[in-house]
Amino acid sequence: MNFTEETLKERLAGQRIGELVRYFRELDSTNIMACRLARDGAPEGTVVVADAQGKGKGRLNRAWQSPAGRNLYVSIILRPPIDPPSAPQLTLVAGVAVAELLTACGLKHLTIKWPNDVLISGKKVCGILTEISSAARGVDFIVLGVGLNVNMNRGDFEPSLGDIATSLKIETGKTHDRIAVISGLLNFFETWYKVFLRAGFPGVRDTWLRHADILGRPIRVVFREDAQTGVVLGIDDDGAIVMQDADGTAQRVIAGDVYLLKE
Ligand code: BTN
Repeated sequence: MNFTEETLKERLAGQRIGELVRYFRELDSTNIMACRLARDGAPEGTVVVADAQGKGKGRLNRAWQSPAGRNLYVSIILRPPIDPPSAPQLTLVAGVAVAELLTACGLKHLTIKWPNDVLISGKKVCGILTEISSAARGVDFIVLGVGLNVNMNRGDFEPSLGDIATSLKIETGKTHDRIAVISGLLNFFETWYKVFLRAGFPGVRDTWLRHADILGRPIRVVFREDAQTGVVLGIDDDGAIVMQDADGTAQRVIAGDVYLLKE
């Protein structure tokens, strides 16, 4: 199916998340556009989609490779009744939605890498970038940006990503209909977002842990110049990883990159 505004609207009709879709052939970044629309009053559930991004944004000021005709670049505007410190938990909710979608597509060897990556056989297939705007009364809006590598061939990745990134096409050997993938993504997200609104992160935790597969495993956490190692004890109600460090002290990890170490 063609990746156009009409086909997107047709396929997403009836979903609360995606009820309003704005499609662009090219944007600098869907997150930038979604923040602009949210500031102008776009309602919860508005979704911004681009076929290509000139300045796709990754975490920690990294760039997100965003060629045309290949992948999904999607940003969802949310206005949940939560406190600003809880906003990063939505990254974990989105990770669960992506992992459940890919599992439903029959993909194996999937893991969620805290806080925002979904990997297949250790290679990144999806990244999530959450941006928040708060007001005096709490969250004004949250923009949840999802980049999912769908039909990238190995040779399409920048050389620096060749060994660390993958796509659904590479993993399954077939081309995927991006309209079907985005509609599945928003469907799964809507389901898990409702669970989150009803029960908070604890309602999502068990599924997150099942996909992350990190309980009891040794990890290394790198944040700026700092690196720490420990063994994962769990993930708390706020979505922070709890690990036991070398001194036996429980530490909360709220930021940084987490790497699994060989046992
Ligand atoms: C990361 O893993 O570093 C996060 C990558 C997030 C990329 C997506 S693509 C759609 C949305 N728009 C952006 O500019 N970034 C996010």
